[in-house]
Amino acid sequence: MTTPGRAEIDQVAEASIAALRAPSIFNTQPWRWRLTGNHGELWADHTRRLDGLDPHGRLLLLSCGTALHHAAVALLAAGYAADITVLPDLHRPDLVAQVRQGSPCERHDLLYRAIYRRRTDRRPFADARPAGAILAELRFAAERHGVRLHLLHYDQLAALAAAVDDAGAFERADPAMCDDVQKWTTRTRPDRDGVSPRSVTGPTDRRIAPRDFAVAAPAALDPGPGSDRGTVYVVLAIDGDEPRDWVAAGEALSDVWLTLTARGLAASPISEVIEVEPVRQALGRLLGAGNPAIALRLGVPVPDSEPVPPAVRRSGTDIIGLPGQS
Ligand SMILES: Cc1cc2nc3c(=O)[nH]c(=O)nc-3n(C[C@H](O)[C@H](O)[C@H](O)COP(=O)(O)O)c2cc1C
Repeated sequence: MTTPGRAEIDQVAEASIAALRAPSIFNTQPWRWRLTGNHGELWADHTRRLDGLDPHGRLLLLSCGTALHHAAVALLAAGYAADITVLPDLHRPDLVAQVRQGSPCERHDLLYRAIYRRRTDRRPFADARPAGAILAELRFAAERHGVRLHLLHYDQLAALAAAVDDAGAFERADPAMCDDVQKWTTRTRPDRDGVSPRSVTGPTDRRIAPRDFAVAAPAALDPGPGSDRGTVYVVLAIDGDEPRDWVAAGEALSDVWLTLTARGLAASPISEVIEVEPVRQALGRLLGAGNPAIALRLGVPVPDSEPVPPAVRRSGTDIIGLPGQS
């Protein structure tokens, strides 16, 4: 005899496995799943917080939001709506969401297939600019989660470049922030997390400098021949500054990133401008509306370029607690 709720929980278990591939700040993968009854619980794991760069855990929650959206995408690919309650319990603030298999619906697997192709691509992109129709689709993807996508105009790029430089200089002078970069770029193979030099490019001639991860080891990814001239820069902005706003920003980031991947584009986030408070405020003034939650560079990959090597992930047995396990 089948246990009641068994089929539902199996479906949520599959979704939590797909969510292992979600992007996270410094690949910290700061979440845990607990499967119980007929639903899954997504928990924030604050032991994986970047205490220097993200002391309030905003980017941690944003990362949990990307995992939540990946799970919803997996349910949709299996032909079910995702029934999600965000932050369901005031007394358990680390419980980010409850996820249930919702009603049957038409299967959509475009974004699901993108989960396994998506990478953070830090290389310069091609000369060609992404098509306006795709940019409109990305704006819509963010708005589905109540998040605004600001496409920066050409005359705002000098201010963004200055913000990135200021944030980088601030972080290099702050020992706690440097410790975070050191810690999460020097993880060992069994840790199955962190940013590897194999996925990072060194400085190249670009309008906006890439993040400097090279505290411990030099960047090892060939930047390739891209000029980065067609790259566009967007900022996702939220109205509030509450935990649920940051979770929504993560869902929007995932939706935007999977959508652009499905359309053949590539991207990499720029979060140093969020990590340094005065810089974040300056970016907010540049946008004119909303609180900046994450910036993203996106563009057309150089034709025939090699795929970026996939970043490691922790295993399901580390992250997903099965029914009956505590
Ligand atoms: C909230 C957040 C902030 C991030 N910030 C940066 C960043 O500032 N610079 C960068 O190159 N990558 C950034 N990333 C990308 C992560 O480093 C990347 O997702 C992680 O290393 C896993 O690699 P993958 O995306 O290729 O799977 C960020 C990702 C998230 C979700």
